[in-house]
Amino acid sequence: MSAFEEEDIPEPSLANIVDQESLKWVFVGGKGGVGKTTTSCCLSIQLAKARNKVLVVSTDPAHNLSDAFCQKFGRDPMLVNGFDNLYVMEIDANQDMEKIQDEMAATAGDEDQSMLQSLMGDLTSSIPGIDEAMSFSELMKQVQSMDYDIVVFDTAPTGHTLRLLSFPTIMEKALGKIMDLKDKFGGMLNSMSGLMGGAAGTGPNGESPTDMMLGKLTETREIINKVNTMFQDPTVTTFVCVCIPEFLSIFETERLVQELGKFGIDSHNVVINQVLFPEKDADELAEWYEGEKGSMSKECGEICAKMLARKKMQDKYIGQCFDLYGDDFHIILQPLLDHEVRGVEKLTEFSETLVNPVDLEVD
Ligand SMILES: Nc1ncnc2c1ncn2[C@@H]1O[C@H](COP(=O)(O)OP(=O)(O)OP(=O)(O)O)[C@@H](O)[C@H]1O
Ligand SMILES: [Mg+2]
Repeated sequence: MSAFEEEDIPEPSLANIVDQESLKWVFVGGKGGVGKTTTSCCLSIQLAKARNKVLVVSTDPAHNLSDAFCQKFGRDPMLVNGFDNLYVMEIDANQDMEKIQDEMAATAGDEDQSMLQSLMGDLTSSIPGIDEAMSFSELMKQVQSMDYDIVVFDTAPTGHTLRLLSFPTIMEKALGKIMDLKDKFGGMLNSMSGLMGGAAGTGPNGESPTDMMLGKLTETREIINKVNTMFQDPTVTTFVCVCIPEFLSIFETERLVQELGKFGIDSHNVVINQVLFPEKDADELAEWYEGEKGSMSKECGEICAKMLARKKMQDKYIGQCFDLYGDDFHIILQPLLDHEVRGVEKLTEFSETLVNPVDLEVD
């Protein structure tokens, strides 16, 4: 019997996500460079074994799903080479914003296009995050109309991830701003054609640019609010926190877990990545080293001593993680490999340790 069964602690495996068939949205997040993209890819590979159709989306402007899979992806979902049910999409908020702007402009008459553009520009510069919120809403609209069983979000480093949770507030601010503008300048902002004595506006139903903008923002707000309600439902959504066993990363994970809790988003998995010898502890290794060091060259001794010091430090933070989350979270230790985890073959291999627990001794 493993230590985990004996102690009745959640299994050190992400298999719970694969097994929870009701799940539709899985976020993978954490501090920069800890292994979010690697974990997203590996988890999606395991999900693809159990689901009909899986999608991985990157909302990080510095995309790296293409780098991880060694395949160029873009705005439209594309199959990963070697799979017939695993798709990838990389979203760029800036590009999306331009598209939204172009689409709106295309429905307005020539006179109102520049006014629409300046309204949009004003909104983007005065309300940080509005571009991401609008782009995310477009993405969700698109993804929900497709038949994916589950969507994995490879998110941007923590700061960005938490912005996603504040989209409803951002939308309220944006709507408030346009309403204020409309109240303040009313007729003047209504429409160029209106000013020139023509129709009230040149939108598809004769709307002014401000009304077209209000319409778009209201639609976006509706989607964002619906999506947020969905994200707060633990039967369909969960957040996987990825960290490395170092102070700053553990600290940030705690902040992330707290924030997620505050927003009512479920999280019950922590992946600790880049662990040196996950199946052994520092004391065990120190004992081995004491026995061997007499027969080692000076260089080997130095390398081992350095590794041991690092392992000891990692053990301390892994211990802290178990103290903080061990009773409620699945804590998965992923080994530090000797090479980068790139390409389908390496990712598939690495994905096995995510779902097949390393049998650990837990004090
Ligand atoms: N356990 C591991 N062993 C060895 N290399 C790893 C391991 N995990 C990740 N890497 C490598 O570390 C680098 C960073 O990993 P990854 O891109 O997954 O991190 P990230 O958290 O997504 O980074 P970013 O914040 O920049 O998006 C990659 O080159 C990846 O191949
Ligand atoms: Mg990444």
